[in-house]
Amino acid sequence: MSALRVLAIDQGTTNTKALVVAGDGSVLARAAAPLVTQYPQSGWAEQSAEALWASVQQVIAQALQAAPGPVDAIAIANQRETLVLWDAVTHQPLCPAMIWQCRRTAEDCAALAATGIGPVVAAATGLGLNPLFPASKLAWALRNIPAVAAAQDSGRLRAGTVDAWLLWNLTGGAVHATDHSNAARTLLFDTASLSFSPELAAIFAVPMACLPQPLPSDSLFGTTAAGVTALPAGVSIHAMMGDSHAALYGHGVRAPGAVKATYGTGSSLMTLTPARVTSRHGLSGTIGWTDRQGTAYALEGNITVSAQAAAFMAKLLGLADARALSDLAQTVPDAGGVSFVPALAGLGAPHWNDAARGTLTGMSHATGPAHLARAALDAIAHQIADVFEAMQADIGHPLAALSADGGASGNDFLMQLQADLIGRPVQVAALEEVGAMGVAAMAMAALGHRLPLAAPKPPFHPGLRPAERDRQRRAWAHAVAQAALPG
Ligand code: G3P
Repeated sequence: MSALRVLAIDQGTTNTKALVVAGDGSVLARAAAPLVTQYPQSGWAEQSAEALWASVQQVIAQALQAAPGPVDAIAIANQRETLVLWDAVTHQPLCPAMIWQCRRTAEDCAALAATGIGPVVAAATGLGLNPLFPASKLAWALRNIPAVAAAQDSGRLRAGTVDAWLLWNLTGGAVHATDHSNAARTLLFDTASLSFSPELAAIFAVPMACLPQPLPSDSLFGTTAAGVTALPAGVSIHAMMGDSHAALYGHGVRAPGAVKATYGTGSSLMTLTPARVTSRHGLSGTIGWTDRQGTAYALEGNITVSAQAAAFMAKLLGLADARALSDLAQTVPDAGGVSFVPALAGLGAPHWNDAARGTLTGMSHATGPAHLARAALDAIAHQIADVFEAMQADIGHPLAALSADGGASGNDFLMQLQADLIGRPVQVAALEEVGAMGVAAMAMAALGHRLPLAAPKPPFHPGLRPAERDRQRRAWAHAVAQAALPG
């Protein structure tokens, strides 16, 4: 079975990547294409749905050029919660994709929360009423975009997260489906019955007919249509998962006990749970994945701006990139009392405050660019620590270690900071593309083959005295409270 080849696509917010993975776990080809996000108004975030699809076509072509030969299956991991709306007849998007970071419906969600319906929604979905999730954005589009309302009236509206949009395009419009992990992030999906809920649709005033069919993550979702990509017709799409879920799977986690953090544009910490959970500490109950073993329930905390905080600060300081920022940060022993809270699009888990905005506090005449750089890296690690601690509080016992993946997990300095701030070892995945590898592993499992996954790198051990860690964590909590103050 080592001749088996899966083409794994990881459609993220900043990049689309593709790997050709062989059955023995080797990566035969890699391809990547960057993506642009537009921020047309404060709190809004959009991407071109055409560009998302074009980037997938591009990486498929590049990957096949680098590793020519037959592909046994396609696997898709994707940025979650991003809503795409398109016309079933023309196959064209009806508006830009409203991405997960977009906060345009913050007031709608607050108004809904004021009616007291939040606990009902949380009981069914595991999620809080927040504009991160697509339900309120679908309602917004129906109210505000005439083309969307017209498509709905004529029965031509199709809605979906990025997995559904890519599947639609790969199959030439033959299949409108999503996987349970992506569906679980819409606020419209009942995670007990594994179906979109008419009650939830009524709460958000959205129609059910435009929603995709939710299916297990390891389904045979469909086959490629002729001429839509560099792939021939008839290649099966055999696994789809949200990127965070795919990363957990790619770390080899199959049972409760381990927790992972993905360091992407935002960050997501996820751990499997023995049953469905409703968080009491600002996290989300969700579905890790569904496969022939059943439903893997999970607990998750999403951080809205994570590694993006380093890129943002690098730009403010006129540095080339986050790597230059990290080099500068290491020229000082600490941030000199400065805290940067990167609430650039509000605060996600476990604070959930859409009104919060980014703050820099604790500056003095002694503050220099290196302190600001260091404060940006501290912020990434502190935000992860906030969710890590909330997760321990929810599950009721300490977590032994943190598994890390994603671009910024390649930064050893940041990983040491992370271990120091959570007081636990951090194990970084050997391969950066854990999400793509995870969803490839699921597709191979569906084909009856167990993909061997690489062991993590040697761990980073905490080196900070507990009293000093507590002091730094208290200073951070104080800074977060200031960012959350009404402006
Ligand atoms: O929940 C949003 C998340 O899936 C986005 O992931 O990797 O694009 O930051 P990423």
